[in-house]
Amino acid sequence: MRIVFAKDYAALSEIAADMVAEQIRTKPDSVVGLATGNTPLGMYRELIKIHRQKQLSFCRMVTFNLDEYIALGKEDPHSYHYYMKHHFFRHVDIPEANQHIPNGEAGNIGQECLAYEQKIKEAGGIDLQILGIGRNGHIGFNEPDVRFTAATHRAELAESTIRANSHCFSSLAQVPRFAISMGIKTIMQARSIVILVNGEDKAEVLDRALWGDISPEIPASILQLHQRVTVIVEENATKRLR
Ligand code: F6R
Repeated sequence: MRIVFAKDYAALSEIAADMVAEQIRTKPDSVVGLATGNTPLGMYRELIKIHRQKQLSFCRMVTFNLDEYIALGKEDPHSYHYYMKHHFFRHVDIPEANQHIPNGEAGNIGQECLAYEQKIKEAGGIDLQILGIGRNGHIGFNEPDVRFTAATHRAELAESTIRANSHCFSSLAQVPRFAISMGIKTIMQARSIVILVNGEDKAEVLDRALWGDISPEIPASILQLHQRVTVIVEENATKRLR
């Protein structure tokens, strides 16, 4: 595991964007796994800048998002489809056919999960997976007590995740209880992983994920077993490192 210390959120975002850009320069048709949430917003802003100012094209890049809420439509402002379109896709040149996000409105969720895994396989697997981490140690929507062997699946959100994500919704009751999420197995099959950790509220879980026991209690702890993980940590998130 390589740990990169960033002095602040802006630095974290620049380092992460540079890593994605480098991946695309080296292999323009890279398959990149993407995350939503607050943490990668700065990275997306930086990537848009790189695309415009350095004229880096993403036209051969293929993307697979980690997750999507079940039962939210693509145009719903709370959906991850909407998030990706507004914060990244509409500003760059990734062809729509290359953008993949689980369909939370699929009639048969089990089938959708299998099809999503199949598409990742057909694309040649994920070259670089971007992750954030939940305060409870989740990655994707792989919540504590997850099965490490799970592929893309229907995931039930933990109460703490529902509360953490509720600031985006008008009330707690509006937060979906279920999502489609890549599984730990899917994430661990990525050839390289970059996890972004920002803010003091992630400090405790970061310490457990990096140096604690590898256990389903802290899903991110499984990353200790991956051969190519870079952890980009902003200063406030380092406060509890042992
Ligand atoms: C997002 C995702 C989640 C987030 C995590 C952290 O696609 O899968 O695991 O990465 O909940 O969210 P933020 O960055 O909002 O703290």
